[in-house]
Amino acid sequence: MSADIGVIGLGVMGSNLILNIAEKGFKVAVYNRTVAKTQEFVKAQAAEPFGANIVGADSLEGFVKDLKVPRKVLILVPAGAATDQTIQQLTTVLDKNDIIVDTGNAHFKDQSRRAADLESKGLRFLGMGISGGEEGARKGPAFFPGGTLSVWEEIRPVIEAAAAKAEDGRPCVTMNGSGGAGSCVKMYHNAGEYAILQLWGEAFNILSDFGASNDEIAAIFEEWKARKLLDSYMLDISIEAAKAKEGAGFLTDKVLDRVGSKGTGLWSAQEALEIGCPAPSLNMAVISRQLSMIKSERIANAKAGLNVDTPNTKAEGVTRSSPFVAKLYDALVISIIASYAQMFQCLREQDKVHGFGLNLPATIATFRAGCILKGYLLQPMTKAFEADKDLPNLMCAFTNEINGTGIQNFRDVVAEITMKSTTAMPVLSASLVYVNAMSQTVLKYGQLVSLQRDVFGRHGFERVDKEGKFNHEWPEMQ
Ligand code: 6PG
Repeated sequence: MSADIGVIGLGVMGSNLILNIAEKGFKVAVYNRTVAKTQEFVKAQAAEPFGANIVGADSLEGFVKDLKVPRKVLILVPAGAATDQTIQQLTTVLDKNDIIVDTGNAHFKDQSRRAADLESKGLRFLGMGISGGEEGARKGPAFFPGGTLSVWEEIRPVIEAAAAKAEDGRPCVTMNGSGGAGSCVKMYHNAGEYAILQLWGEAFNILSDFGASNDEIAAIFEEWKARKLLDSYMLDISIEAAKAKEGAGFLTDKVLDRVGSKGTGLWSAQEALEIGCPAPSLNMAVISRQLSMIKSERIANAKAGLNVDTPNTKAEGVTRSSPFVAKLYDALVISIIASYAQMFQCLREQDKVHGFGLNLPATIATFRAGCILKGYLLQPMTKAFEADKDLPNLMCAFTNEINGTGIQNFRDVVAEITMKSTTAMPVLSASLVYVNAMSQTVLKYGQLVSLQRDVFGRHGFERVDKEGKFNHEWPEMQ
């Protein structure tokens, strides 16, 4: 058999993606370090109608022989050292023009390095993150490719067939650009994922602290889902998590409050800070996880007497019909839009710095299905950027939701939570900071801080009435 594509790695993602591709009628060669696992996998698929489309290889050399030229190899081994090792082994068996595709959650700078390195050896490379988890890999994920531009047309039929389809039938994949473009898109997809997961976590935390039971919270979330705007996979999994039971009690009560992470959110925040692209909601989502991780410090502080409860902090029995809950909905809508806005601004700015050649509307369109950010809002967001790719900020396309009542309700909610509880709401607060700051034409703190720098360090300041850099004659300070 001459296979259309090869897959290395038989973890859950790899296995499911192989089945997905084979089911679409493409022939897939499979290689795994443990030969017995490959044999077992191929045998298990033999009875499937597409079973004959899968061929197992017991050596890397045999695997490469099974592939049509130019060979196309997808790597689905753990990100980092294992990926680099696999790439290195592949360079010894592949020929010029062959294509290596790394699907891991890699830093885009590592993917740019890999692309340059492999291109210098005459090979071609794609960094192609995959979103959608195990189920997505089997039924249709979103793919985020970037790298050697000439690769795309050759690999496109297989990837488009395997990808999820959006409501207009378009596959959730586009060639995002050169170097680490695809991994950069996946990194910021994940940074948005951190922020939105956290926002739903905060909504749960707030409602719970205000006296709502898990069942009531799940019912409130269901009602919000029915209002469409927030209908999304992120909300669905939040409802599942809030409702989950173990015995008579809720599972949330049994879970340790430490949230782990593998790196993509942190890298996105670091890279945004590095290029001066403000993304407070994305950054704060990373910090929220860090705050959760240092549980022993939090316990030690409480034991040492740090207690921010005051006579004012009292839980209230909020229900679906409480005016507070209606306002919290608006706060969530605006925070989620603001988080996406930051994600897209970061992508735009990274594109300017790294010259990926990103087509932002086409990229956003690929978030509409398959990936874990999929949801109702992605459709109007795609349309907004298709109508005006130079839209200053995504929030400008949602002024109906943000201006007036929306933002007033958001402020009321933050004020009430601050007054009546000790509830931490890092991403909600950071999103309000972003919306407020991004809609002001003059930031007065900027005027004062510019002068402070001139007082102590003669650093100079700019003026509104003339061009250039100026110093003021400051009196002698003690
Ligand atoms: C996806 C996810 C997936 C995974 C990330 C985030 O789009 O399917 O982003 O790739 O959840 O690795 O993981 P962490 O929360 O562990 O950083």
